Amino acid sequence: MSAIQNLFDRLVHLDVVTILAIGASALLLAHILPYLVDPSGIRSYPGPLAAKLSHVWLGWIAARGRINTVVHEEHQKHGPFVRIAPNHVSIAHPSALQTVYGHGGGALKSDFYSKMVQFRGTLTVFTTRTREDHTRKRKMLAHTLSQKSVLEFEPIILKYQRILVDHWDRMCADAAKGLGGSVGQCNWCARDGRAFFDCLPWFNYQAFDIIGDLSFGSSFGMTAEAKDTTEIAKSQDDALDSFGIEKAQLEYETIAAVKTVNDRSTYAISIAVLPNWWVPMVRRLPWYSSGKNAMEAIATMAVTAVAKRLRTPSIRNDLLTKLLEGQDEKGNKMGSLELSAEAMTFLIAGSDTTSNSAGAITYYLAHNQNAQAKLQRELDEALGAPTKNEDDEDSRAIRYDQLKNLTYLQDAINEGLRLHSTVGVGLPRVVPEGGLTILGKTFAPGTIVSVPTYTVHRDKAVWGEDADVFNPDRWTRGDKAAMQKAFAPFSVGSRY
Ligand code: HEM
Repeated sequence: MSAIQNLFDRLVHLDVVTILAIGASALLLAHILPYLVDPSGIRSYPGPLAAKLSHVWLGWIAARGRINTVVHEEHQKHGPFVRIAPNHVSIAHPSALQTVYGHGGGALKSDFYSKMVQFRGTLTVFTTRTREDHTRKRKMLAHTLSQKSVLEFEPIILKYQRILVDHWDRMCADAAKGLGGSVGQCNWCARDGRAFFDCLPWFNYQAFDIIGDLSFGSSFGMTAEAKDTTEIAKSQDDALDSFGIEKAQLEYETIAAVKTVNDRSTYAISIAVLPNWWVPMVRRLPWYSSGKNAMEAIATMAVTAVAKRLRTPSIRNDLLTKLLEGQDEKGNKMGSLELSAEAMTFLIAGSDTTSNSAGAITYYLAHNQNAQAKLQRELDEALGAPTKNEDDEDSRAIRYDQLKNLTYLQDAINEGLRLHSTVGVGLPRVVPEGGLTILGKTFAPGTIVSVPTYTVHRDKAVWGEDADVFNPDRWTRGDKAAMQKAFAPFSVGSRY
């Protein structure tokens, strides 16, 4: 009989308490041993004990949507270096941004990314983790997201801007008469002749419609209806199989798209920070399994929309046309899986980022009457009073070229993005062969490092004692070079 068989037979005959005790000791050892052996040489860095021993700490704060604030509190206690997982050091300093994310550092994305956005194992520009793959993807997408393309998309963006403004104008007109009310799923109430309502759902609907229209040729119809609903195919497989088939018949079901994207985001990040081998087990837990469903629903939403768009080919300049035209250096175009995966990336990357940012900027301006009045003056001077003429489309949606030189507007947007970076967590990178020296400390190859934008955007040495306050004026009065170096709402560098 083999030694393993022997050991197994003995284990089978142990009582439950002994088995549990052995299991608990093995678990403890599995966490304490790596801490004692310290393969990455990061034991000297401060941080919560639980984070030093186990990935559970980061997974737990991620699942509660609190990575930004909790990591920030740790940096307030310990300074620029904090160990936030057994193999991960967070570095909160503006100088670290270039070293970690810049072209020269050589650090690549960690396996966090492959768990963040999943579509049948197909990699996207966001999830590729080698320079070669990323460069290929960027080449295929370069003309899709160029400044020229984005300006070509402007008429589509303005269309949804007008729908939104028309709704808000009606709400304000009613409120002026003292009337509250509701439209779709949104309510407003009247106080002192003004309309009070939550802007965020509106920005969500608008962002979804714009990205839907740009990516797939038709919006989700949310802004017009003021409702968080969209139709997706009942079967993702059927939707994929229908690509290019003109008469394909699909069965549909209705989902709440904004809610699904939000559920997906928290789930994805809380899975992404865990070691790969934990994931299959953790996904079975009830909370995680509902997040997994949200992830699948978003994928189906993208596939459904691509399928619809391919059935009604268009020569219109939109994201999908550009994706379909994209070629790598060998002239290869994207296959259906790659196309769906990139479309899904746009849906995720372009919707709640934009709407949350717009919501935050509006919130800060609403709370800061001085800033609001100053912005109003700048806009009135540049654009004149809006006309009441329904046919004057320009008065209900302003073009980029009318706004691009308005400095206070830009400062207010930057200030909003500084205080509320939608991507405020430190994006994880792996220290390359040869190590990486950051702020005088050398990290061994394989160690994970990240720079938390949330904290760098509140660094008092850069932003001043009022760093926590919304104040667009700081952008003209402070040290511009230092602020630009520390400002990274869209991250910096190559994004390999
Ligand atoms: C306020 C709005 C936005 C914010 C704050 C934002 C933020 C970011 C950040 C921080 C990254 C870097 C991620 C990383 O390195 O891991 C990123 C990448 C990306 N974003 Fe955005 N984003 C916004 C809007 C959009 C929109 C509207 C789209 C598409 C329509 C988009 C598409 C992408 C793509 C494709 C990438 C990956 C780029 C690459 O790896 O080369 N984003 N974004």
